[in-house]
Amino acid sequence: MSETSEPDVDTFRTDVINGLSARPRAISCKYLYDTRGSELFERICHTPEYYVTRADLALHESHLNDIAARIGPDAHVIELGSGAGIKTRQLLASLHSPRAYTPIEISAAALTRSSRELEAAFPDIEIVPVQADYTQPIPAEAFALNPPAKRRIVYFPGSTISNFESDQAVHFLQRLGRIAGPDGAVLVGVDLVKPADQLIKAYDDADGVTSEFNRNLLVRMQRELGADIDLEAFTHEARWNEAHSRIEMHLVARRPTTIVIDGHQFAFEAGESIHTENSHKYSVESFQALAARAGLQSDMVWFDPDGVFSMHWLVADA
Ligand code: TRP
Repeated sequence: MSETSEPDVDTFRTDVINGLSARPRAISCKYLYDTRGSELFERICHTPEYYVTRADLALHESHLNDIAARIGPDAHVIELGSGAGIKTRQLLASLHSPRAYTPIEISAAALTRSSRELEAAFPDIEIVPVQADYTQPIPAEAFALNPPAKRRIVYFPGSTISNFESDQAVHFLQRLGRIAGPDGAVLVGVDLVKPADQLIKAYDDADGVTSEFNRNLLVRMQRELGADIDLEAFTHEARWNEAHSRIEMHLVARRPTTIVIDGHQFAFEAGESIHTENSHKYSVESFQALAARAGLQSDMVWFDPDGVFSMHWLVADA
């Protein structure tokens, strides 16, 4: 994930206080991505245990020609995220006479930077940036081209879909289906379910980068909210939740400890945790079932050479 604009401190404080008051205690994963968090996330992508980024790239390398052929000519590719990366460039370079490309990105700085770079690299493709939070509805006019392109391809690689709860994922896919329209398609990256020990390692690397990424939330609470926290009392834990088929990240109290924010006291017993993130893992069939709930049909699935990661081509249900 790239830069994210920092939400305002009052909202952060309210969300943290509500999250620590709830049972189970949970704080939204969006707060993991301050400047330091985004840097740490980049480093996670390079750890030997976190296979997702490499598998996604390998999938693209193996199947881009096939994907481009399926997309066909005169397409408008709409990407959720700034599209500064290597996958976007490879995709655009593989397309047959593409019409336009729209990155949707919350950070104006990241959007401007990537749009300039892509304009220089692909002078024949119209670059139509949209500054927006893609988790919120976006007015249809934002994507309108005159004359319209032959079809719209909504491109969402990288398995960010796995960070949504299933009902949220269904609503989100419905929105993507609406953006794509009846003649378009949604191209979405989906990490596959695999043995729990392998998954846990990917979210708890030996060098402790993921641990630092998770614990950075506590550092951020200290800095931005003036929270009183004994950092050493909390440890990072990646857990496999079989019932929900997901990896969960938690900050677990190793011993009894209290967090104090603005006079609010949050007492933890040893072993109590703050749940900070989910990453759902799907089989081909379980993702097809999820897409079906969103009125989308998975017509094609591609895999990386190791068979650990997938990309679905979703079209409106006939
Ligand atoms: N969406 C990716 C995943 O769930 C990337 C990601 C989000 C991630 N949060 C993370 C990776 C925390 C490691 C740790 O795998």
